[in-house]
Amino acid sequence: MEIVVCKTKEEASKLAAAMITDAVKKNPKIVLGLATGSTPVMMYGEMAKAVKAKKVSYKQVKSWNLDEYVGLPGTHDQSYRYFMNENLFKKIDIKLSNTHVLNGMAKDPEKECKAYEAQIKKAGGIDIQVLGIGSDGHIAFNEPGTSLNSRTSVVYLTPSTIKDNARLFFKGKEKDVPTRALSMGVGTICEAKKIILLAFGKGKADAIKGCVEGGMSQFCTASALQAHNDAWIFCDEDAASKLKLKEYYRWRSATKLGK
Ligand code: GLP
Repeated sequence: MEIVVCKTKEEASKLAAAMITDAVKKNPKIVLGLATGSTPVMMYGEMAKAVKAKKVSYKQVKSWNLDEYVGLPGTHDQSYRYFMNENLFKKIDIKLSNTHVLNGMAKDPEKECKAYEAQIKKAGGIDIQVLGIGSDGHIAFNEPGTSLNSRTSVVYLTPSTIKDNARLFFKGKEKDVPTRALSMGVGTICEAKKIILLAFGKGKADAIKGCVEGGMSQFCTASALQAHNDAWIFCDEDAASKLKLKEYYRWRSATKLGK
C-alpha cells in the first residue's frame, strides 16, 4: 500500500489524475473502475482538463462504476449514473455506450449484479479502480460487517452513511436517501490491477487510520486493500492526520513519485 500524503486536496487530485492520464496514454483501451461522491470531483476535473488540452483521449476507454442506489433511475438527479454523466462523462470524450453503471431499477437486482461481474470479466478486468472512502471506512457501499471476499450484490446502508450522503446530496433530506444499493463487492474491487483511493478532510481521518494502520477487518472494508499489491491512497493533511507513520509515508511516496 502506498500512502501519498499531500498538503492539499488540489495537489492530491492532480497527482491522482496524472496517474490515470498517463495510464490512458499508455493503454488507450484501458478499463477503468469509477467512483462517485464529492471526493473524486476535483480529480475528474483535472482528467477533463487533460482531454481539453488534447493530451489524452478516452474514445476507446471502457468504464464500470462501483455502485448505484436501488430504486433510482439513471435520470434521477441523485442517481450515480446522473452524477457520472454530469461530473465526468460529459466533460471527456468517452463514448457513453462504453460507460457502465449498475441499474438501480433492475427487476431482478441479483441477476443484474451477476451480469455486471460477467461484463467486467469479459472486458478483461479492471485496470485501475478509483475509490473514495466512507467515514465508517466503507469502499463502494460495502458497509461494516461485509465479508472482505464479497461480490457485487444488493447491500444495506448504515444510518451513518445515510446521514453522510444526505448531508452532501439529497438536499440534506435523510428520508429521501434509499436504504439499499447495488454495489461491487470488496472481493470484486480487490481484483482490479491497480487501485487509487482518495480521502480528504478531518471526517475521513479515522477511516484512513483504519484502512492503513488498523488490522484487516470487515469492520473497515477499506482495510482489505492492505492485501493488494498496487493500491495507492491519496490523502490531504487532514485525512492523514491520525496516521502514526505519516511522515514516513510522505517521504517514501514522494521519493517513489519523484516529487
Ligand atoms: C458513498 C459512495 C462511496 C463514496 C462515499 C464517500 O457512500 N458509495 O463510493 O466513497 O460515498 O463520499 P464522499 O466522497 O462524498 O465523502
